[in-house]
Amino acid sequence: FPYTPVPTVFAKLGLAYDDVLLLPNETDVIPSEVDTTTHFTREITMKVPALSAAMDTVTESDMAIAMARNGGIGVLHRNLSIDDQAAQVDVVKRSESGMITDPLTVNPDVTLADLDKLCARFHISGLPVVDRENRLVGIITNRDMRFIASEDYDRLKVSDVMTKENLIIGPSDITKEDAHHLLAKHKVEKLPLIDKDGKLAGLITVKDFVKTEQYPDATKDEQGRLRVAAGVGFLGDAWQRASALMEAGVDALIVDTANGEARLALDMIRRIKADPAFNGVQIVGGNIATRQGAQAMIDAGVDAVKIGVGPGSICTTRVVAGVGVPQLTAVYDAAQACKAAGIPCIADGGIHYSGDIAKALVAGASSVMLGGALAGCEEAPGEKVLLHGKQYKLYRGMGSLGAMAPRGKKSYSKDRYFQADVTSNDKVVPEGVEGEVPYRGPLNAVLYQMIGGLHQSMFYTGARTIPELQEKGRFIRITDAGLRESHPHDIVMTAEAPNYNGFHN
Ligand code: XMP
Repeated sequence: FPYTPVPTVFAKLGLAYDDVLLLPNETDVIPSEVDTTTHFTREITMKVPALSAAMDTVTESDMAIAMARNGGIGVLHRNLSIDDQAAQVDVVKRSESGMITDPLTVNPDVTLADLDKLCARFHISGLPVVDRENRLVGIITNRDMRFIASEDYDRLKVSDVMTKENLIIGPSDITKEDAHHLLAKHKVEKLPLIDKDGKLAGLITVKDFVKTEQYPDATKDEQGRLRVAAGVGFLGDAWQRASALMEAGVDALIVDTANGEARLALDMIRRIKADPAFNGVQIVGGNIATRQGAQAMIDAGVDAVKIGVGPGSICTTRVVAGVGVPQLTAVYDAAQACKAAGIPCIADGGIHYSGDIAKALVAGASSVMLGGALAGCEEAPGEKVLLHGKQYKLYRGMGSLGAMAPRGKKSYSKDRYFQADVTSNDKVVPEGVEGEVPYRGPLNAVLYQMIGGLHQSMFYTGARTIPELQEKGRFIRITDAGLRESHPHDIVMTAEAPNYNGFHN
């Protein structure tokens, strides 16, 4: 029987968000005036330090659009075919833009029925009509369709109803101001842009001007399109997936695994970073939970590191495998390596209350990733269900049986847990659970409360910016009694608060 010496440091202490509070500080900061701008990755900044999780009950295109409009970024999940995931990137990238350089178009001989389907898929109200040489021959919008009965949609073609005379057009190098002026003068909603050869070169829509005013914090790329990230794996067709997402215009790829220190995941990161075709895409690696893990990601060349092994509200990794690091300590330790290398890091999972966001940032994170906190939003995939008179939405771990062993459907998420080789559903070892979370309404109201809490934290700690919060924030460790005291006590709550849903267990 071999003798194994007991390590000198038997077990270091790991702290969770609930183990600490932030100390109040001298302040003249007004909560509404703070600046929460941060880095998502080395090259992408965002005004709100929040990402929606790459989970199939959290982020598809609707959530990604809402997140980017509200100043964060959505990470599209990868538990779907390559084509479907790439199509979702396309939907987000086309949802709004300063000038659309490759607008969707239709040919004059397309039926109104097909046009209707295209408009519904991309949530748009009309399209430029072009001939085979990409020359503008008309424009068709819902104004042209208003008085046409839907029974006639199969019979009529775009050329029968499109507007072809007196088209309002602009040159391809038009300024934003001139475009706005033309749209307003002619009371039209879409301005096709034509190059010197008479071909369609772009499109400017009034909707985009309105959206810019409505969402001043939106996270956008250089062309004024909303930014979006997407998860990829590292096995099988992961390379094709990464390439398809890149071609669809994704801003960042997250090599998404439950253990980012796995050689295969690190190899995938190195391979993408070495390929010049991916130069315009930021690469995030995860998840890790130690300083050593963060260093491995940094050495592989990532543009941001994602931290969290087992803190998620649906995770069972820590009980199934006995592996993980309480999240505050994981963030603190991993952030040491990230800070030294000048690489942003993301605290992923375990954010239950808005106060946890400030704790994660003070521990060293540049942003947080939210799963359960957003799964109840209107924009999260899935229908509402009624349970005991209250509305709920499904929320499940990507390592749950439902995600890894769906009946009659292919799972694309098994490799996240290194079980891609397991072919029988009975042999899958889940690392997550499935359940319901209360329906919470639209994302903008939910995120407003989460980030509103962060504004309050910044007021209390006397910080005007995230770097100042990280510099000034000090923790105090608390006991179980302190935690009980922190939550409402000795009261039967009779009204729901928009930012407090009880003492989580
Ligand atoms: P929250 O706490 O925001 O956590 O709901 C979301 C994060 O949890 C991770 N995740 C999982 N972890 N088993 C795990 O151990 C799972 O089945 C699982 N699914 C998601 C993921 O990092 C996510 O962002």
